[in-house]
Amino acid sequence: MTQAATTTQIFDILTQDHRDVMQRLDRILASPAADMESLRMAFAPVRAMLLAHALAEERAFYSRLKQNARTEQTALSAGGEHEIMTRLIEDLSGYGLNRDEFLSLLRGLADLTREHIETEEGPIFAEARQVFDRAMLDEMARSMIIEKSRMLQAVA
Ligand SMILES: [Fe+2]
Ligand SMILES: [Fe+2]
Repeated sequence: MTQAATTTQIFDILTQDHRDVMQRLDRILASPAADMESLRMAFAPVRAMLLAHALAEERAFYSRLKQNARTEQTALSAGGEHEIMTRLIEDLSGYGLNRDEFLSLLRGLADLTREHIETEEGPIFAEARQVFDRAMLDEMARSMIIEKSRMLQAVA
């Protein structure tokens, strides 16, 4: 593996997760099932992917950003967005919603997630590239892979 490929690995892992989760969200919204049970079934894997990604990302990536004065604030504000997304996911996982309410919350989650991802892949990745050396970025990539599989089991 070349040095350039190694340094970008953590960003590639996060970006691939972002693509996967947005594709699934957009697919549900593009042709939503008529009944709640099918909607819930379609949402279940998205819920797991999003929660596992956010939790693993906080442990593998943002925990390091929090330890650096230049990136601390960025990490805190991204963590705040994760909290809002998690609350929306919890609301979507309850049983009190009708179809319209569910779809409107899901649209909100998709919008929020898209904006969050744009910020991560833009300014946040740029900051991280400036602040961390290759060894730390490699460590983040390794940690992200381990934490994600752990978190996927935890949220399933
Ligand atoms: Fe992310
Ligand atoms: Fe995130």
